Amino acid sequence: MNDYPGPEKDDFKTLTDLREEREDVGRNCSTNPTMGDIIHMRFSRRAFMGGSLAVAAISTTVSPLALLTADDARAEMSGTFDFTEVEAGVDETHHVAEGYDADVLLRWGDKLFADSPEFDPKNQTAAAQQKLFGYNNDYVGFIPLDGSPDHGLLVVNHEYTNAELMFPGFATIQKVTEDGKEKEKVVLGDYTKELVDIEMAAHGGTIVEIRKVDGKWQPVLDGKFNRRITATTEMQLSGPVAGHERVKTPSDPTGVKVLGTVNNCAGGVTAWGTYLMAEENFHGYFGGELAADHPEAAQMERVGAPGGDYAWWTFYDRFDMGKEPTEANRFGWVVEVDPMDPNSVPKKRTALGRFKHEGAESVVNKDGRVVFYCGDDERFDYVYKFVTKGTYNPDDRAANLDLLDEGTLYVAKFSENGTVAWMPLVHGEGPLTAGNGFNSQADVLIETRRAADLLEATKMDRPEDVQPNPATGKVYVMLTNNTKRKADQVDAANPRGDNAFGHIIEITETDGDFAALTSRWDVLLKCGDPSVAEVGASFSTATTKNGWFGMPDNCAIDADGRLWVSTDGNNAKATGRTDGVWAVETEGEGRGTSKLFFRVPVGAEMCGPAFNPTGDTFFLAVQHPGDAGLATYETPATRWPDFRDDMPVRPAVVAVTRQGGGKIA
Ligand code: FEO
Ligand code: CA
Ligand code: CA
Repeated sequence: MNDYPGPEKDDFKTLTDLREEREDVGRNCSTNPTMGDIIHMRFSRRAFMGGSLAVAAISTTVSPLALLTADDARAEMSGTFDFTEVEAGVDETHHVAEGYDADVLLRWGDKLFADSPEFDPKNQTAAAQQKLFGYNNDYVGFIPLDGSPDHGLLVVNHEYTNAELMFPGFATIQKVTEDGKEKEKVVLGDYTKELVDIEMAAHGGTIVEIRKVDGKWQPVLDGKFNRRITATTEMQLSGPVAGHERVKTPSDPTGVKVLGTVNNCAGGVTAWGTYLMAEENFHGYFGGELAADHPEAAQMERVGAPGGDYAWWTFYDRFDMGKEPTEANRFGWVVEVDPMDPNSVPKKRTALGRFKHEGAESVVNKDGRVVFYCGDDERFDYVYKFVTKGTYNPDDRAANLDLLDEGTLYVAKFSENGTVAWMPLVHGEGPLTAGNGFNSQADVLIETRRAADLLEATKMDRPEDVQPNPATGKVYVMLTNNTKRKADQVDAANPRGDNAFGHIIEITETDGDFAALTSRWDVLLKCGDPSVAEVGASFSTATTKNGWFGMPDNCAIDADGRLWVSTDGNNAKATGRTDGVWAVETEGEGRGTSKLFFRVPVGAEMCGPAFNPTGDTFFLAVQHPGDAGLATYETPATRWPDFRDDMPVRPAVVAVTRQGGGKIA
């Protein structure tokens, strides 16, 4: 493929960039210390280098590491990953390590049922989209059938939609004058109800049976478990908030029945084989105006609702906060789906709190309780864990199906002495009392963020995936970036004040007890280009110019307990590289060494990473490919994966396998 030339304008932002900026303003006004403050206090006497993280510095500053050739650096590597590293870069297609195949398994619009219609991008309908693979695949999980590593259910979240890339003739490139400067911009057309309905049908999730045939994965279109879940699927609120006054609406006076799930970013698969879909930026789907003196106004502002990113509220009253002000209290939860019953009603598990859930990865603790880790993905928000009250029963699946309704939610406070205190969000304890406006556990959970503020949790740099490693008792916290941390929030010696590239925290649970209330923490990696001293990145010196990354987002632990990290936001123009998946050494002398395994086509973000149980397949989700520069349906930055003039660019899940078989190594 030809090298992609990059956007024409340095200051160009795609609609996705702009939406993300609006969504993520950092709404935590409490004075709790930020993670950067804590790292600074803990490590300021060590060899952290000062300076700003300006991306512009990348091309102008060179250190000895940058002069080391990739071959030299590789020769120094003696890690646990033996694949040959991919060259970082940017072009129209994906790249995987030599000796591996990355086959497209499911694309937006692919059939999921025997009676699915053909994908017809120029004549889309909501009815067709209900039976086709949804848009913007994010979380991917694999649930084996009959214990097989080669046959199972693939569960996939469809986080959001890019109307400008989905609908022919809908978006146009127009000349506009902004701040006295003339520039070109992508402008969306007028929504119709049918377009909104297609968007709602392209959200949610997919459950689809897949099978390996002659070494290649394929969907089983007559699989009896195949199912689409969308923004209109009937769901149930369960746990402490179910039926509460604050979740009753004009359409649902019971406060139990909810339609749909939105912005399902990452998620999880439980030990009992259910699929968790985490609701992240739910506020963007709500529009209208909530009166400033409405009792919900302050807490809605804390989550940014109404965000007004979609037109849904102009066609559906429940998304209009002026008309149904409590509907937004019914979003922001973790949804549990039983994929073994295609007619099961998904349950919003309110005991896990309401915030912008990135994901919900879990581990069965040695005492049988199950521990879920959740990041709240906004600048200056928090890391949580939830410990079930009951214990997992490996011999009785049905007995586990409501484990998520009872337990304790904790929020993390990271101290400079290297400990993490997990503070319970329990009504009546500490400040979580009627005096502070919490009359019940339901109030604590609906306003999880405010409860955590009062407990003085540590403000983090956008917590994304939080992944426990059952083999080691360690937990990895992806902190993607936080450029909104102002210089006056840290002192000059804190190099990560303007944290453009993010970092990874490693939590060590005490004695391998994931339910422990006190843990230890350390920084595994400070991300960014290690050849630029000002960035202050901490990759090992064995990491090549291809091996460093920024903006860690999702991650996976493979069957051998090794860490793989996927990224979101590596700006191809500024860094000359796309997002991808990197293998990261966490143990021994090689700790902090990272290698590039797979990279996405231009404009895409890397999501999903998930292994099958034997580790011979790595499922990866390529989200919003082509979304760079002045990207519309007619002018995507790439036409991956079909490269056909009559087919739009399509988000897709790829299955990576080793040529000739064997583990991803
Ligand atoms: Fe949907 Fe936190 O990324
Ligand atoms: Ca994410
Ligand atoms: Ca994960």
